[in-house]
Amino acid sequence: AHQWRGVIREYADRLPVTEATKVITLGEGGTPLVHAQKLSELTGSQVYLKVEGMNPTGSFKDRGMTMAMTAAVEAGAKAVVCASTGNTSASAAAYATAAGLKCAVLVPEGKISMGKLSQAIAHGATLLQVDGNFDNCLDIARKLGESYPVFLVNSVNPARIQGQKTGAFEVVDSLGDAPDIHVLPVGNAGNITAYWKGYKEYAAPFETANGTLPAVSTKTPIMWGFQAAGAAPFVAGHPITEPDTIATAIRIGNPASWDTAVAARDESGGLIEAVTDEEILDAHRWLSSKEGVFVEPGSAAGVAGLIKKHAAGEVPSGKTIVITVTGHGLKDPQWALRTEDGSDVQPVKVSNDVVTVAAELGLEEK
Ligand code: F0G
Repeated sequence: AHQWRGVIREYADRLPVTEATKVITLGEGGTPLVHAQKLSELTGSQVYLKVEGMNPTGSFKDRGMTMAMTAAVEAGAKAVVCASTGNTSASAAAYATAAGLKCAVLVPEGKISMGKLSQAIAHGATLLQVDGNFDNCLDIARKLGESYPVFLVNSVNPARIQGQKTGAFEVVDSLGDAPDIHVLPVGNAGNITAYWKGYKEYAAPFETANGTLPAVSTKTPIMWGFQAAGAAPFVAGHPITEPDTIATAIRIGNPASWDTAVAARDESGGLIEAVTDEEILDAHRWLSSKEGVFVEPGSAAGVAGLIKKHAAGEVPSGKTIVITVTGHGLKDPQWALRTEDGSDVQPVKVSNDVVTVAAELGLEEK
């Protein structure tokens, strides 16, 4: 039986590695493409979820981190640094451990989920909570990378984008061609940049050291990105100084990959729009209660966007639509316990006997 070998080994001929490269991997990628039955019924299109929460540290960041950490080792680095809203730091900490490197992470104080914080700590990273937001953290991380002996593993490092483009490859490999529309949340804009790069590379002949690979897909998709309304610089058309949203993963006001995200949007004939926190939480609830897929709030922004566009009559039927759901629900589980009216779900307590339990469940004896 074939065992998935991680994205670098699976796609080695399309990544900047050689036979001699020492690959740092935790077996990332190869994530499920789940047919979303209820979203498909809703829209009349075939909707699929690329479930990136199934990566080793629970988010899509691992695809880029295997490349970044491999590049760090190749460069002879001893320590890596990143700024993060949580998932990048969790991934960096895990892959640095696998690589035998020291890891420092800068996170915005009070604005990262407990699950992500725990991961960085568990993997032994030095975690600093900065009195500022993600954009401030990234500023400092970039300066550290430039002027101090630490290797920057944020997505401004092109190795990260290279790794993350494999998400698009996997979608095409699963479906047999590119989808008509690809939907995803947008924060620092590395992922929309990476998917577009991957889709373009798969739709054309690709030059490698060992010759030219033929095109794999016949087309590229339209890219639809969605930001949280309180942190939507692409919608505003300029950076936002005080981004705010409950979806802390995408609480970003000054995206690093600005130009490449705009290019992905415009070259694909797509869009980047905003969804409110309420729409994000509704989509989060939709995914868990109707599709059986548990994601963190930021990951639901793409689904929120699709539902919103459908309500506006702007989702075509009879198409193939893929939505990347970027991170696992267990990263930030508190939102599942919140009901639509904002109160907390209280588990029902019962005594320790089957008759009471059956009665509570409304069951009658057979
Ligand atoms: N979804 C999740 C769960 C994320 O963690 C992120 C980004 C995004 C979407 C947006 O992706 O930045 O490539 O546009 N998280 C980064 C972090 C910023 O530090 O973990 P993007």
